Amino acid sequence: MSSIYPAKTESDERGAAPQGEDFEAWAGRLAARARGLVDRQTGGTLSPGSPLGEAMHYAAALGGKRMRPLLVWATGDCVQAPLEALDAAACAVELMHAYSLVHDDLPCMDNDVLRRGQPTVHVRYGEAMALLAGDALQTRAFEVLSGDEAVPAPLRARLCALLAAAAGAGGMAGGQALDLAATGRQLELAALRDMHARKTGALLRASVLMGLACGAGRDPLLVQDCEPMLLRYAQAVGLAFQVVDDVLDASTDSATLGKTAGKDAAQGKATFVSLLGIETAREQARQLLDEALQALAQLPPAARARSTRLAELARQIVARSF
Ligand code: IPE
Ligand code: IPE
Ligand code: MG
Ligand code: MG
Ligand code: MG
Repeated sequence: MSSIYPAKTESDERGAAPQGEDFEAWAGRLAARARGLVDRQTGGTLSPGSPLGEAMHYAAALGGKRMRPLLVWATGDCVQAPLEALDAAACAVELMHAYSLVHDDLPCMDNDVLRRGQPTVHVRYGEAMALLAGDALQTRAFEVLSGDEAVPAPLRARLCALLAAAAGAGGMAGGQALDLAATGRQLELAALRDMHARKTGALLRASVLMGLACGAGRDPLLVQDCEPMLLRYAQAVGLAFQVVDDVLDASTDSATLGKTAGKDAAQGKATFVSLLGIETAREQARQLLDEALQALAQLPPAARARSTRLAELARQIVARSF
């Protein structure tokens, strides 16, 4: 099978910093790498002019912060995981995320018309095509993980299992069902945290766990020792991501967000802002950032020294403006 990945350049090795590369340069380089990987999986893979192929590409390749791939690569850095496996994991989780956004925006869900500063997929391609594009992005994610012969077969299976669990009834899809059921009602804090941890946290958590799993072939003991801390990091960051999303929905304009602002209140969504108010929600996000950073501080020294990108990603997730 021919490689599904863009050609490597010298500076690509495991996202290793070219001499003196700072965080911003690293994140920019790897976000572009994510775009290239996703492009390959959605661009020329269906016959040109195919509306389904176009809708998939529109949904996945254009825009987005690429936060989940960055978490995969940054975690992989901690445990010095090989680039091939990290690329597959990064690409697959981004395809899964793109699918979740397409379906989240559908009229039967959040009924949103704006995403990443553009009309949503169903506005542009029609509802049926948006549904199918989401379906096909999801299955493409598993093709990417299962079909890459550069990745050892047991690792491919493990990555598929992690992603499936995060996306399914116990993770993202289950969280989205809770979100719909809670619309027009107020949840208690524990139930709200659980809903957010599933609908949004699960894929972010899986990004970290997949990055970690990729390191098992190199240093299984290090991976084992890192797992409890990285799990705590991932849970805190995953929840913080949606808390901040709630805050931004209530406090930022649509042009900055690239999606419709103020929709949560308009639709009666149960959010951290509706339950706690905006200042307390912000404070919760800051506390979750502290938890994430404390978890990294407890990593074994070898991994801790390589966790600065994870720390910076956590800060950015909490400080972001869109
Ligand atoms: C938006 O995710 C949906 C949530 C899970 C809150 P992102 O904020 O990561 O969206 P993009 O990929 O950057 O557009
Ligand atoms: C959705 O949360 C998270 C997903 C599983 C896609 P939101 O509905 O708040 O996400 P946005 O604000 O539309 O991006
Ligand atoms: Mg939603
Ligand atoms: Mg939404
Ligand atoms: Mg939102």
